[in-house]
Amino acid sequence: MQKELHVAIIMDGNGRWATRRGLPRVAGHRAGIASVRRVVERAPDLGIRRLTLYAFSSDNWRRPVDEVESIFWLLRAYLRLETESLREHGARLEFIGRRDRLPPLLVREIARAEYATAEGQCLHLRIAVDYSSRDAIARAVAGVTAALPLELLSADLLGRMLAQALTAESGEVDLLIRTGGEKRLSDFLLWESAYAELLFTDRMWPDFNATDLEAALGEFNRRERRFGGIPEATALRLVRDGSGRGHDPKSADQLTSGL
Ligand code: FPP
Repeated sequence: MQKELHVAIIMDGNGRWATRRGLPRVAGHRAGIASVRRVVERAPDLGIRRLTLYAFSSDNWRRPVDEVESIFWLLRAYLRLETESLREHGARLEFIGRRDRLPPLLVREIARAEYATAEGQCLHLRIAVDYSSRDAIARAVAGVTAALPLELLSADLLGRMLAQALTAESGEVDLLIRTGGEKRLSDFLLWESAYAELLFTDRMWPDFNATDLEAALGEFNRRERRFGGIPEATALRLVRDGSGRGHDPKSADQLTSGL
């Protein structure tokens, strides 16, 4: 089994799960917390070292005020109830996204939880709140261009500096799971997921359990990741045949520019 995986999850389907049961949407979010707990507990045994959960996107501000407040309330409750146990299990909590628009009490609880779990080594648990990947990329671009005058920035250098700004701490995503049946990325970890394997399941988030996570990892392990290359078996055959030299990308540029 591959180790040190970064798995990201778009936890979708809470509202539908609740509505189908004749419950208010917030009941779905509450049930979703139990799924978070199950997945966080199981993740380290499956080789997952980093888990990023999409709890509230910057577009979710469009929801009714009551629902938004309930989600923030649940997040605070989760932190108050779970931080100590997360610390004991070696989890390091980190929140990504904007904090300047969140309720101050939630911001304080986030800071407390991040501080309390800062030494965790078993699982880097990232929770995305008021998060937008486009916004994160735009801010990284602003940071890079403020540090270096535009005339010094080639596209190549800009790309490398952005990669550093966006993934040096968090790494790339290996597997991105979306529950709830929709098949889109919804502005989540766009740069970091450039080579992620995507897995969409019809399971609503409150129904997602440890077995579903295992099945997702099983599917991930069956896929061949080529990162733009060729199948490993083909590469080995080419090396055996003596025709497997690597190609210099610069000469590809020359070929296409007619030089
Ligand atoms: C998407 O389902 C879910 C959310 C916007 C909120 C997710 C929040 C939690 C699971 C609770 C707190 C999380 C943590 C990390 C403790 P939806 O409401 O869009 O569902 P729908 O598509 O069926 O309407």
